[in-house]
Amino acid sequence: MKRIVILISGRGSNMRAIVQHCVAEGWPARVVAVIANRPDAAGLAFAAEHGIVTVVVDHKAYATRDAFDTALAAAIDMHRPDLVVLAGFMRILGADFARHYEGRMLNIHPSLLPAFPGLRTHRRAIEAGCKLAGATVHFVTAELDHGPIVVQAAVTVLPGDNEETLAARVLEREHAIYPLAVRWFVEDRLRLAHGIVTHADGAAQWL
Ligand code: GRF
Repeated sequence: MKRIVILISGRGSNMRAIVQHCVAEGWPARVVAVIANRPDAAGLAFAAEHGIVTVVVDHKAYATRDAFDTALAAAIDMHRPDLVVLAGFMRILGADFARHYEGRMLNIHPSLLPAFPGLRTHRRAIEAGCKLAGATVHFVTAELDHGPIVVQAAVTVLPGDNEETLAARVLEREHAIYPLAVRWFVEDRLRLAHGIVTHADGAAQWL
């Protein structure tokens, strides 16, 4: 049984999708803790209602990024995770932290990486005249929104789309690809070599 720890900062809809798929599809895994860096993260209520341990490591309580990273890693490691899942976790993590979880930490980013790392991805995609937008699940490396790509989903950018309408369509796809990627990980279906992720059975890594 693999142990999953999920980190959130807010709404937690991707966390919810992962918890629900894990239970409904009987993965060989369990979400053992949900950790937030904000005490008011809305997703904490869902986790608690589902009997998952919730923890707050408030970044405001730490004077430096390093101190926060150290406290966060201690809170995570207490739960002995096989996999750490960043799901809308809005803090930049240091290189040591990334190295500590190398090969066992995933993130979802709302763009077709390597395009548009960082914030306001949907607005930037619209402003650039992109015809496709989407989301990417990737292993986390020390570089922000960068790392071996596990799965991507594309949506068309429609005439008249704004940041909100595009974000909503992409989010729907995020709720499909993030559970898929986590399932592949806990079922040991992912192979990572030379920065490239392949699926052991050749499953399509896009949607
Ligand atoms: C998602 O769009 C995710 O890609 C981005 O932040 C948003 C989080 O949404 N990193 P939620 O908290 O999972 O609902």
